[in-house]
Amino acid sequence: MERFGASFLIAGVVTFFLGFFLQGVMPVLTLRSIATRSVAEVAQDVSPHFVGLASDYPEEFARYFGEPNAASFARALDAGRDAYIAEACWHCHSQFVRPVSNEDLRFGPVSTPEEYQNEMNLPHLFGTRRVGPDLIRLAGRYSNDWHAAHLYKPTNVVPYSVMPEYPWLFDEAKRPNERGLALIAYLQWLGSWVEEGSHR
Ligand code: HEC
Repeated sequence: MERFGASFLIAGVVTFFLGFFLQGVMPVLTLRSIATRSVAEVAQDVSPHFVGLASDYPEEFARYFGEPNAASFARALDAGRDAYIAEACWHCHSQFVRPVSNEDLRFGPVSTPEEYQNEMNLPHLFGTRRVGPDLIRLAGRYSNDWHAAHLYKPTNVVPYSVMPEYPWLFDEAKRPNERGLALIAYLQWLGSWVEEGSHR
């Protein structure tokens, strides 16, 4: 064993620098030339589902967000992302379609670096495991109502679901509250920038 000591040391040092280069230097080199977009910039493109929320839940929407426009969309996206983090949705859901294992056949187009170069993805929410499906191509896959029913009690719409219930995102009348609406707006935004028709 003794005589292998030097080889292990060299292998360890080389692996360290390889990792540092691939996961530290390469991302910086790739992303450096792409400007970081602010939430306000991202929200200029008001999603039709956000406008839809205003007609689905008019009273609640008006109370919490006022009119559906770029400014209220920015506030909703921000609050929705915060709720997604606070409720630990990222614990069971990834937000990254990898270029391996035919993932694009299931989730949609493979993810690209510039998609994540905005304040909505700082910190990034790639996730670590997939107890549930990847969510980065979610926009428009379901209606706002489906999301409300699902978040309130997932087995409402997916009988075999093991996803937890989130009744605290709703008021006494079981209509989404401020955080509930913001979270639905956020979910419907995920992947909305990908070309129409490329969703699966
Ligand atoms: C304990 C793991 C777990 C947690 C935590 C969790 N989910 Fe899920 N989620 C699942 C599973 C499993 C499914 C697949 C079954 C289903 O659709 O309910 C799922 C499905 C979904 C879907 C449908 C995706 C699709 O493409 O069909 C959405 C949207 C979703 N989850 C959002 C959320 C949000 C938002 C949160 C946080 C408030 C959350 N999940 C937290 C496990 C989880």
